[in-house]
Parts: sequence; structure tokens; C-alpha cells
Amino acid sequence: MNEYVYINEVGPRDGLQNQKTILDIDSRTELIHQLIKAGIPGIEIGSFVSPKAVPAMAGTDEIVKSLENIKNCDLSVLIPNMKGYELACDAGAKIISVVPSATETMNQKNINMSLEETIKNSCKILQAAKADNLCTRAYVSVAWECPYEGLVDSNQVLEIAYKLIDSGADEIILADTIGAANPAGVSKLVKQCVDQFGADQLSAHFHDTRAMALSNVCAALYEGIRKFDACIAGLGGCPFAPGAAGNLATEDICNMLEQMGYQTNIDLNKLNSIVDFCAEKLDANVGGRMTPWLRKTN
Ligand code: COA
Ligand code: ZN
Repeated sequence: MNEYVYINEVGPRDGLQNQKTILDIDSRTELIHQLIKAGIPGIEIGSFVSPKAVPAMAGTDEIVKSLENIKNCDLSVLIPNMKGYELACDAGAKIISVVPSATETMNQKNINMSLEETIKNSCKILQAAKADNLCTRAYVSVAWECPYEGLVDSNQVLEIAYKLIDSGADEIILADTIGAANPAGVSKLVKQCVDQFGADQLSAHFHDTRAMALSNVCAALYEGIRKFDACIAGLGGCPFAPGAAGNLATEDICNMLEQMGYQTNIDLNKLNSIVDFCAEKLDANVGGRMTPWLRKTN
């Protein structure tokens, strides 16, 4: 049996939160169902954030409720603050992700809190979630570079990750929010985190702004990481992080991993149809690097 790599799809959240076209709830739900049918094991299905700040995520509560019977996929939601946590619980969310950033300014711009407040709040939410028997994920955003403060000290990331794990995070996701990391920097930080926390508790999230996302995945793979976020059709970008371009495309990482001999259990042809679905719904030319190749071979 080939070694398994877990792909967590973030298209319905990271992918859709910053598109020109806002998808309605039925289309967002349809996208999630199609991703589940393609064999994706985990999906971030939306966020409980202010609809004024991110209109595209309004109605995530309805989506969570409509998917309550899904058993074959880990469905998570992103939470910025305690209010978001309460709303997610009311809707019946079972896996929550907190999203602190590693720098002062990024937290201010993203969720209007200082670094210290953000960490305190994230830890409080994690503790509440554990008391409520929920599964917990914790991003460390801008883990390599911040659009406002530049390069990030890896010790700062480790310190934040330690506090989040100590408060009940089941998983830490090292996030290259603006796509500024390179494979050498990825190896360095991931190695430090693996030494400290073990690979099982870690995951990585890359954007492809400077065409290094797949190389960064390889760097993390070689340090032992076996969980990655990815985004169908390479959609995405953070509205509060200037310069953030699309995420690493799910079809690109799945194809690379399969060709390298890893197993994802995800159906590439179905991913290709979902790329077409996104292109039609968003009225945009979307897709990862391998989309034209997949179209030619089918
Ligand atoms: N969900 C929905 N509404 C929320 C909310 C949440 N999690 N948190 C706060 N609000 C509402 C408040 O009820 C209040 O509403 P009102 O104006 O109708 O009274 C309003 O938002 C302001 O509340 P406040 O606590 O002062 O929040 P803020 O203005 O400091 O904004 C966030 C903080 C986190 C809500 C906002 O910055 C946000 O949603 N950011 C989005 C972050 C994001 O999605 N980033 C991309 C992914 S990392
Ligand atoms: Zn992202």
C-alpha cells in the first residue's frame, strides 16, 4: 500500500471568500457535495466571520446545517472570535479552525485584534471547543512572511503553535498566506515544528503566488508532513493580505502526489469536472497548472 497523504480542501472558504462573483448558498453547497463525491477526506466549508467584512461567507450556518448527516468527510469551519465560535456551535459545526496570524499587524488587519489578544482569544476558543468535544484545527497565518512586517522569525511561530497545542489544538496548520515562502524556508520551519510537536499534529497551507507551492509541498513532505490544505481550481486569496494570490490547486497537488507514489484516494477526473463547475459559476477562467493537460487527456 502506498503512503497516504490527507488533503483538506479549502475552496468553499479560502477559495470563494475573495472572488468577484459571490456564489449563492445552493452553489456553495453543491460545490461541497461534488468535492465529497470526488473523495476529498476533509473540507473547510465556510467561515463564521462578519458578513460585512466577508460577504461571500454569509449563510455558512445554513450550509453547516444542511450537511449535518455527512459522515465520510471531515467538515470544518473557520472561526475568528468567540462570537463566531458561538454561531458555529449553534449551527452544529463539529470541527473548528482558529486563525491567528504570527504578526501584530496581520492580526489587526485581519480580525481587528492585537497579536496578544488574538492568541488569548484563539486559546480560549480552543479550550471551549475541547470542553464541547469538538475537533480543533489552528492555523498560524503568515508563518513565513507577512505582507506588512516582512519575514517572520520561526521562533515566533513555534511559540504560538506551542500555546495553541497547549490549549487543545488537535492540528497546527502552518500557512503561507501570501505565497512568499520558498522550499529552503519551508524545510527549516517545518523541521523545527516536527522536532518540537511531531509530524502527525502538523499540516501545511500554501499559496502559489510565486509559483513555489508544489516545491514547498515537497519540502514539507520530505520533513514528514502528510497533511496539506489545497484549493480546487487554485482559487483564493485573503482580502486582508495584499499580494495573496490563489491557493495551491487541489488537482495539482493530487496529481503530483499520485505520480510520486503517494495515495490520496481522490478522483482526478472528478476534480476536473469541479474545476469546470467553478469556472461556470464564477464566470472566470480558473484551474490549476494541470487543468489544460487533464482536459487534453480526457
Ligand atoms: N460573525 C458574524 N458577525 C460578527 C462576528 C462573527 N464572528 N464577530 C463580530 N460580528 C459582528 C458584531 O455582531 C457586530 O455587528 P453589528 O455591527 O451589527 O453590531 C460587528 O460584527 C462588529 O463587531 P466587533 O466585535 O466590533 O468586530 P470587529 O469590527 O472588530 O471585526 C471580525 C472583527 C473578526 C468580526 C471581522 O474583522 C471579520 O469578520 N474579519 C474577517 C476575517 C476573515 O475572514 N479573514 C479571512 C480568513 S483568515
Ligand atoms: Zn490561504
